[in-house]
Amino acid sequence: MSTNLSASALIFFAIATAGCARKPATIVSLHPTAYGSALVETSGGKQMGATGTMLAQPLVAQVNDDQGAGVAGALVEFHGPFGISFEPSAALTDASGQATTNVTLGGMAARYQLTATTRCKAQKEVALNVVEVALGYQQELGYQLGETYCARCHNPESSAERVSNYDNLQVKPHTFTDGTTLNKMTDAELTSIIDHGGVALNKSALMPPYGYTLDKSQTQALVAYLRLVSDPPYQAPGMVYAQK
Ligand code: HEC
Repeated sequence: MSTNLSASALIFFAIATAGCARKPATIVSLHPTAYGSALVETSGGKQMGATGTMLAQPLVAQVNDDQGAGVAGALVEFHGPFGISFEPSAALTDASGQATTNVTLGGMAARYQLTATTRCKAQKEVALNVVEVALGYQQELGYQLGETYCARCHNPESSAERVSNYDNLQVKPHTFTDGTTLNKMTDAELTSIIDHGGVALNKSALMPPYGYTLDKSQTQALVAYLRLVSDPPYQAPGMVYAQK
C-alpha cells in the first residue's frame, strides 16, 4: 500500500515538474516593453480543420491602445483546452501590434474555445476568445458532401471552385452554421428534409431531395457536420453537460 502511494506521489511530482518546466521556458524569456488596453482578433478565428491537425490559417491577435492603434512589444499568451497546442504559446506583438500563433487542434471532434490574453499597464488581464472547430472523420465527410451537393445554395459566397446560386433562389436557405435556425430542427427533421427535400417539411421545393443520391451513412455524416459547426452551439436534447 505504502509503496503504491509513494509511487503515485512520484509520478504526480514528475508530471507537475514537467508541466512547470514547459511554460516558463517560453514566457520568462519574453519581456513586454509596452502594454495596450484592448485585444482584438485580426484573423484566424472560426476555422475548421481535421482533428489533430494544424489549422490552415494562423491565429492573429492585435493589442491596441486607448485610441485603437496597434501596440508593439506587448506580451500575448495563448491558452486552450486539453489537446490544443500553440506554436508559439506566447509572443511579443510586432510593429503593427500583432501576435501570431499556429494552432493545432485536439484529437476530439469538438468546438474548441481558445483564449488570447495580454496585460494592460495596471496589470489587469485583457482576454479575447475565439472558437475553432475540429472535425472528426464523420463530420469531415459531411463537410465534403456539403461542399459537393449543398454549398452552392446554402453558402451565399462563391469560391474559386464553386459559384453560388444563392442570389437566384426565391426562398433563401440558411448557412449551415446558422444555429438559430438549425438548432430548432430535430435530427429526424434534418434527415427528412435531406432525404425527401423541402416538401417533406412543408418548405420550398427549391430544396431538392437527396435520398437517391446519398446513402444513410452519408446523410448521418451531413447531420453530424451541421450539428458541430452550428453557431450558437447545438446541444442535443437530453444531454447533460458538466458544469465547470
Ligand atoms: C438548389 C438549391 C439547394 C441545394 C443544392 C440544397 N438546398 Fe437545402 N435548402 C434550399 C432552400 C431554398 C431551402 C429553404 C426551404 C424553405 O425555407 O422553404 C433549404 C433548406 C434546407 C434546410 C432547412 C434549414 C434551412 O436552411 O432553411 C436544410 C437542413 C437543408 N436545406 C439541407 C441541405 C443539404 C444537407 C443539402 C445538400 C445535401 C442541401 N440542403 C442542398 C435549397 C437547396
